[in-house]
Amino acid sequence: MTALLAVEGLTKSFGGVRALDECSFEIAEGSVGALIGPNGSGKTTAFNVITGYQAADAGGLTFRGRAVRRPDPCRLQRLGLARTFQQPRVFPGLSALENVVLGRNQPWHALLRDRVPGPDRRRAEELLDEFGLAAHAHMPAGRLSYGQRKLLEFAGVLMAEPVLVLLDEPTAGVNPIMVKTMEDHIRRRHAQGVTFLIVAHEMQFVMSLCDPVIVLDHGRRIACGAPGEVQKDPRVLDAYLGD
Ligand SMILES: Nc1ncnc2c1ncn2[C@@H]1O[C@H](COP(=O)(O)OP(=O)(O)OP(=O)(O)O)[C@@H](O)[C@H]1O
Ligand SMILES: [Mg+2]
Repeated sequence: MTALLAVEGLTKSFGGVRALDECSFEIAEGSVGALIGPNGSGKTTAFNVITGYQAADAGGLTFRGRAVRRPDPCRLQRLGLARTFQQPRVFPGLSALENVVLGRNQPWHALLRDRVPGPDRRRAEELLDEFGLAAHAHMPAGRLSYGQRKLLEFAGVLMAEPVLVLLDEPTAGVNPIMVKTMEDHIRRRHAQGVTFLIVAHEMQFVMSLCDPVIVLDHGRRIACGAPGEVQKDPRVLDAYLGD
């Protein structure tokens, strides 16, 4: 399979902290990859640099076979790369439905003028239904539970019909039932052809869902492979247990 996303030598420092250190990996089209590693190992920074929320100091990436010279979040979203955030980012004062509609990159004034195109509105309603949030469609998103906000953010990024979705800890801080719900949604979308790269800490979730598993430690990629291999890798055990 061809690489949908390839990152090469990504490096990013914050003052004296090297958050990413010549980090390289590839995500094949059609896969569900995991990006794991101890706290502070650079996972979120990798997402931020790939999606253009932060500029890399060095290194580069290709997406869909094209070099992305200066990653820009909106441009990448139009090309089919979407992401969620470790702390779900929703507009708390807007309804759940409006939040999902905004995933399509609507001009904000379209909402005020009630000029959201009918097809977009219907699509957002379908997504809310799919994600079990239809009953909350007109509730301010800020009143949803933490797990529901994570689901809402996921539903929102699907409005743009992405080919690659980066999920930053979709299962952290949510109850076990919600973890299963999230897994089901990922599996369903994967079956429809969406590729994923997921930051997660729950090993059972990662081991049952993801291949390859890419492991970061101090910003470096220390392992990459099938879950069974990575789990036995002494460098990985050392990274988690060592310091
Ligand atoms: N904006 C920033 N300013 C300064 N240091 C930062 C910034 N963002 C990240 N860092 C540092 O870079 C390193 C990597 O952080 P990052 O958030 O990417 O790790 P992570 O693997 O996502 O961790 P976690 O599992 O806790 O979410 C850490 O040492 C962190 O403190
Ligand atoms: Mg993080």
